[in-house]
Amino acid sequence: MQKLAIQGGNRLNGEVRISGAKNAALPIMCAGLLTADELRLDNMPDLHDVATMRKLLEQMGVTAAVEPGAVTLCGAKVDKLEAPYEMVKTMRAAILVLGPLVARFGEARVSLPGGCAIGSRPVDLHIKGLQAMGAQIHIEHGYIHAQVPRGNGSSKGCGRLKGARIFFDLVSVTGTENLMMAAALADGVTVLENAAREPEVVDLAHCLIAMGAKIEGAGSDTISITGVEKLHGASHRIMPDRIESGTFLVAAAAAGGDITLIDARADILENVLEKLQEAGAAIHVAGSTINLKMNQRPKAVNVRTSPYPAFPTDMQAQFMAMNTIAEGSAIVIETIFENRFMHVQELRRLGAQIDVEGNAAVIKGCAQLEGATIMATDLRASACLVIAGLVAQGETIVDRIYHLDRGYEHIEAKLSALGAQIRRLK
Ligand code: EPZ
Repeated sequence: MQKLAIQGGNRLNGEVRISGAKNAALPIMCAGLLTADELRLDNMPDLHDVATMRKLLEQMGVTAAVEPGAVTLCGAKVDKLEAPYEMVKTMRAAILVLGPLVARFGEARVSLPGGCAIGSRPVDLHIKGLQAMGAQIHIEHGYIHAQVPRGNGSSKGCGRLKGARIFFDLVSVTGTENLMMAAALADGVTVLENAAREPEVVDLAHCLIAMGAKIEGAGSDTISITGVEKLHGASHRIMPDRIESGTFLVAAAAAGGDITLIDARADILENVLEKLQEAGAAIHVAGSTINLKMNQRPKAVNVRTSPYPAFPTDMQAQFMAMNTIAEGSAIVIETIFENRFMHVQELRRLGAQIDVEGNAAVIKGCAQLEGATIMATDLRASACLVIAGLVAQGETIVDRIYHLDRGYEHIEAKLSALGAQIRRLK
């Protein structure tokens, strides 16, 4: 089990290049299943989850030519329509192969993703949407078996999905992405109502449109997709990672300093930037750079997570870390996942004063955290613990950092370059 050792107390200064967005790269890689042509993706992040998704696609027969920061996928020889449990259990985003497989081949066998640390995270909305489009789905032995009966206007072994109007009871990011990909090859028009508006959904839509899909309204809560017979190859550059961007900005706001993000996008971080200014940071945006200066103890800021464009749940833990040493008290309310406070008990080990009542946490800022050994439980919680380690007095050891490697490219190298004292212990 790898660990990070962090000596707290250093300010962060300098430039950091933001990597491609994990949560855009994962669905867009699955779009490679929708065509027999080549899909070339640039600005790919070097992440564990990306490697897992690539292996999952390759075991289906997709070829993947990897170059530094890029991959060229080709779905010409897909011969296995299955996502096995061994791969899905380590990465829930594997559910994103379901829509494309059913859309192009009329069938799929995908393991139900188990729950995870932050919540049960069912996929009932993904399944309901595909059923509305004509797929017959049954669950057995922990697998989703989907099939489109023949006679749905297709000459292939199985039938073809039909466009439908689908209303999401809950806003679901990967639910929206799965059904948008399925609808791209369906017969007729699909309208997704109460769709997710996240920028990663928009990036996927841009890639699908480049492949010949007919999609309108991505980024709004109503997306209309007119299915086509075939999609062709394309080239697409993955958007910058807004959560990695936010994580570095919060780290600098907590530790103090002057950092500049390169290859970032401020327009998709407005809510986070406003909260950082409320905490007392000075933010300056120029094109694709975001500069943050913090020369004072942060002020505590309240956050309430909600679907985009409101405050992102993936930034909740990081702001909680900043609030532990902020001036004043703050309340953090998590409305998306039912168990996304796993970082609280770890922060308490560093001396943080946090009370939790249901989905609300009240944090009373203290002057100083004391370094200790703590344990990461999920991806964003591990980023929170790294931020806490940066500001704690003395040494903090963060254990189980494989969670961190799933979603942050070379984080200790990037933080060291900004002046942090951080090293990986084998
Ligand atoms: C995506 O997860 C992200 N992952 C998550 O990022 C992010 O936290 C989440 O969206 C919310 O923004 C990827 O994009 C790969 P949801 P997703 O479906 O799509 C419930 C990270 O740290 N729900 O939007 O799985 C669900 O339980 C990860 O990078 C159903 O009930 O989230 C949750 O409470 C963590 N039934 C809420 O909706 C469904 O069929 C939102 O989930 C689907 C979802």
